[in-house]
Amino acid sequence: MELTKVVEVETPDSIKTRIADLVREMTLEEKIGQMCQVDAGLDEISASLADNVRAGNIGSVINQVDTSLVNELQKIAVEESRLGIPLIFGRDVIHGFSVVMPIPLGQAASWNPEVVEACAKSAASEAAAHGVNWTFAPMLDISRDPRWGRIAESLGEDPYLTSILGVAMTMGFQGERLSDTGSIAACAKHFVGYGAVEGGVDYSTTNIPENELRNIYLKPFHAVIDAGICTVMTSFCDLDGIPATGNEFLLRDVLRGEWGFGGFVVSDWDSVAELATHGFAENKSQAAYEAVVAGVSMEMAGNAYSSHLAELVANGEVSTAIIDEAVSHILAVKFQLGLFDNPYTDAGIFGESEHQQALHIARQAALESVVMLKNNSVLPISRHGTKRIAVIGPLADDSYEQLGTWIFDGNPEFSVTGLDGICRTVLEGTEINYCRALETSRDKTTDFGEALRLAEASDVVILFLGEESILSGEAHCRADISLPGSQEELVRQIKSTGKPVIAVIMAGRPLVLTSVIDQVDGLLYAWHPGTMGGQALADIIFGDAAPSGKLPVTMPRHGGQIPIYYNHKNSGKPPNQEMIVHIDEIEAKTPQTSLGMCTFHLDEGYLPLFPFGFGLTYTTFAYANIECSATQPKVGDVIRLSAEVTNTGTHTATEIVQLYVRDMVGSVTRPVRELKGFKRVILEPGQTQRVHFELSAHDLSFYGRKQKRVIEAGEFRVWIGSDSEADLETSFRLVQ
Ligand code: NOJ
Repeated sequence: MELTKVVEVETPDSIKTRIADLVREMTLEEKIGQMCQVDAGLDEISASLADNVRAGNIGSVINQVDTSLVNELQKIAVEESRLGIPLIFGRDVIHGFSVVMPIPLGQAASWNPEVVEACAKSAASEAAAHGVNWTFAPMLDISRDPRWGRIAESLGEDPYLTSILGVAMTMGFQGERLSDTGSIAACAKHFVGYGAVEGGVDYSTTNIPENELRNIYLKPFHAVIDAGICTVMTSFCDLDGIPATGNEFLLRDVLRGEWGFGGFVVSDWDSVAELATHGFAENKSQAAYEAVVAGVSMEMAGNAYSSHLAELVANGEVSTAIIDEAVSHILAVKFQLGLFDNPYTDAGIFGESEHQQALHIARQAALESVVMLKNNSVLPISRHGTKRIAVIGPLADDSYEQLGTWIFDGNPEFSVTGLDGICRTVLEGTEINYCRALETSRDKTTDFGEALRLAEASDVVILFLGEESILSGEAHCRADISLPGSQEELVRQIKSTGKPVIAVIMAGRPLVLTSVIDQVDGLLYAWHPGTMGGQALADIIFGDAAPSGKLPVTMPRHGGQIPIYYNHKNSGKPPNQEMIVHIDEIEAKTPQTSLGMCTFHLDEGYLPLFPFGFGLTYTTFAYANIECSATQPKVGDVIRLSAEVTNTGTHTATEIVQLYVRDMVGSVTRPVRELKGFKRVILEPGQTQRVHFELSAHDLSFYGRKQKRVIEAGEFRVWIGSDSEADLETSFRLVQ
């Protein structure tokens, strides 16, 4: 799959001249002002904020979304400040605005760049109507640890999928031209390594060897930069002893030097001052020095730059050239956004028809984000044959909790809950027996009298379980990622009624479902599905649509397996089903033997509960006749691969056909499998289609021993199938 360039990042010469002229005219204070962002999520504009904007002390405002206040502030900047430089207004528009799309991890489960792009485009245009010029998304942190609350905001564990979807999201936000109405600047965050925080604890340390950094963590950032993203946010984390906000290697050598990034870099919230907290700088002044020298163009919501940069320049510690460079990058983005020509916002650009269109996109995105993990033929439910349905659980009818993390502007009044969706979809006269059973997902009640009574009185039970929005997101990490509270007990008791049970899980992360999976007949993983989640789920439950989502993350069978991800290295003693032993099989006083000398846990083996890429639908697909265009292609040749996919069931459905490659021997060890392509196909029952992929030289390249991109000859194995454990295999030998 090619990553297309979407926005012209190059600043045209005419603009470069305007920027240079402007910078020449600016005082040092005005330049530093451009490098400062302030938090102004207030109901009115304070006199001091207005004065600071007028004085040119502020370059950006975060968290103001009242269109008239935005315009009022902008007017002060444009008409009353000495040079009339417009402000850039930022906001976390992460997955929707008032209409909330599925959380990014849910969108990733769609494996559909078009859907992801549409979600971002719709959110951008609603945000733009509120005066937002700049969002802090996409988050591209490779997330291999579901304890980390921010996995919800990520696009999962895979660098290729994250790259494709990150580019799609960028295209959605930025549009064809940043200056178009409804386009807003995107921001690639968090640069870099934030998803690898130790223990899955937010803000904690990360240690990522350079080779892993380049082959895994940097990849999606490089992709969106090639696609024209115009800003980058540094991560809060300490990376190998150098916090990302003061990391010259990342910000200058890699981002600017190797990738030629021409936009600007913003710190994370107060992360400049936190360089002192990390123990990387002695005080705020030194923190400002480290950040600016490393290449942070703008400080988010702190005062290290405003308080100390002038003095650092006066002392000669920071050169004017560094300041001019930062300011030029910021001005370039303001020019690209068209803010100099068109600084004000028109609230009218997002009206009723755009709102309806947003609801439509939210419904489609939610539909495509649902991953069916189990189905003992209980799904879809027949509308005609089912007279009484029990709908039970703390997330069945909660218009707020289905929206997920980062929904500052989300409006729960628009939500269609699971209960609403079901009620709207069933035939008239169908009895819906609803009870919440647990006040919250964490409720420890075990008296489920009412729920059991309703289950007994129904033909089928649909349980809406999971975790509320606040259990994931920033600083909301969990050590135990099983279903919270007494939800597992609820499942057990409902199961004991003997009624067919369908579980719908709404969550911000892949939960450990090992103890419930055998208790239910069907399981739909809905993530936090957003505004239209309930309708999308009803569409699937009653068979108006077939599920098509695939896991963008591995689902562990036990929290102790974390990190568990499909593209791991082989090790010297790879996992082997025939060698492993279970802890219960070990006899007392067993002497040390080589039995089980492979990579596994005595109590959990090595397999996940569900692998990356997994997802069922209402039909089955068979894969056959894999073909490769050459057995000995030359380095640089395009290699064509294909396989036949047949719908062997009775429903028309979508399959996401996945291509995995293993480079058997490398100058550095290579992952056991890497996703290198995927295609969506819709097949009718009995229909067969040959699905084609191409592998370019770039696809087979990686960062080698000297941290340079290399393509190495040798054997490659290839699998085409429906998830990362696909077994339809071929191979080729790449020759020089
Ligand atoms: C902190 C978060 O880490 C970042 O992702 C977000 O964009 C900023 N705060 C602004 O809210």
